[in-house]
Amino acid sequence: MEKIIIFDTTLRDGEQAPGASMSSPQKLELAYQLEKLGVDVIEAGFPIASPDDFKAVEAISKNIKKSAVCGLARCIKADIVAAHNSLKKARHPRIHLFLATSKIHMQYKFRKAEDEILALAKSIMRLTRGLCADVEFSCEDATRTDRNFLYKVIEEVINLGAGTINIPDTVGYSYPQEVHSLVTGILNNVPNINKAVISIHCHDDLGMATANSLSAVLAGARQVHCTINGIGERAGNASLEEVVMAMKTRKDIFGDFYTGINTKNIYNVSRMVSGFTGFVVPPNKAVVGKNAFRHESGIHQDAVIKKSITYEIMDPREVGFSGAQLVMGKHSGRHALAKKLKDLGFVLSESKVNEIFTNFKALADKKKEVYDDDLIALAEEKTREGKKAYELISVRASTGTDITPSAAVAISYKKKTHTAESCGDGPVDACFKAVDKVTGLKGKLLDYRIEAVTSGKDALGEVNIKVQIKDKVLCGRSASTDIIEASVRAYLDAINKIST
Ligand code: KIV
Ligand code: ZN
Repeated sequence: MEKIIIFDTTLRDGEQAPGASMSSPQKLELAYQLEKLGVDVIEAGFPIASPDDFKAVEAISKNIKKSAVCGLARCIKADIVAAHNSLKKARHPRIHLFLATSKIHMQYKFRKAEDEILALAKSIMRLTRGLCADVEFSCEDATRTDRNFLYKVIEEVINLGAGTINIPDTVGYSYPQEVHSLVTGILNNVPNINKAVISIHCHDDLGMATANSLSAVLAGARQVHCTINGIGERAGNASLEEVVMAMKTRKDIFGDFYTGINTKNIYNVSRMVSGFTGFVVPPNKAVVGKNAFRHESGIHQDAVIKKSITYEIMDPREVGFSGAQLVMGKHSGRHALAKKLKDLGFVLSESKVNEIFTNFKALADKKKEVYDDDLIALAEEKTREGKKAYELISVRASTGTDITPSAAVAISYKKKTHTAESCGDGPVDACFKAVDKVTGLKGKLLDYRIEAVTSGKDALGEVNIKVQIKDKVLCGRSASTDIIEASVRAYLDAINKIST
């Protein structure tokens, strides 16, 4: 069996999605989870892009031991020096160079001819290889590049020590057969291609990123670039969970290949990425959407009970998705809860388990049935808790068709209780305005979403918000059986990210 190297670019191309920015601590936390997930290469950022990017790559380099850590660089000396410096502490550093090779890009972006681009690629390869043993070279817009020129560039950079040749479908324009023919062409026409790994990097502008990536694998690519939940520039990138699960599920086609991904961690990492970026996973998203394993029609439900393979091509547990399984009631004990949380993939201290147990008991009193998803929401709430500057003590809101919505909040800050009241356009708006009075900050709400964690009238409501405070866009998430309380907690979750 041959290994397919999984190169995760959630922290670089994924973060390039408009509005998906993550803080440095979040990036480090996600890198730990990606390592635990088993990705082979973590593209940690674009170090020249900003001091924050540089610091994040540096911190990830210092702390990640198993996965290779990669920094992106244009074919510009300053980029390469920044990438090299940020990767100094990495156990397995990789520099990822990219240079556009398509006529469209060379002409309009660079105003350079083929021979100039080739000369630049060669001189920059020499410089980079002198600083880093592991260099990946991307021919940007490869799928729209003249084939013979592409072969020439690839041959030259391999001669100069590029160990991985990445083929980006930068604008998501390609089609599976085309990608197959391109990779086959490279294998047949680049004389030294056996000295490098062919990699594929697909965007999803026409919804074909996963299909194109898989087609490249069948043609001979041995590394796939992907992101969690498929987030990325414009329509996004090939999604890790789809690529990995397609290979795992379609053994009849991909039986010769394997990946190092611990698929049981997929669902948790997916939740983490959506929580950090505020990009809510659509319910119908393949593999990680809430409905991906839910059967609504009676005919389907009946058949699944009789034999799950009638309508389930994957076992939901394979991706760590336990869905609507009934787990516990109010008589369940602490040990059972601790075991369940461990099975769900949470690594928690005893004191955190105790705190979750208290919340679980309170929830079990309010809800008749507590499901795995409820527990995940409770556990995530606790694992998100760092040092909280502001903590909600109580909230009261009144609203109606014939009254002005109003709210009162009590919040603890620096060990003192602060109270405020406000009116608003609705109860949530009134609450947020009351919170603003306490914090002295003015949050501009950019996005607000509420979703039931499980079904039923007593379901937990999970609120995800995106809010702009000063020049920062922050995400917050919280869940409660009371949606007003969840909203205020989500708002404070966002505010706490910039407050001390
Ligand atoms: O889409 C693209 O071409 C890229 C390169 C930097 C590899 O993201
Ligand atoms: Zn890209």
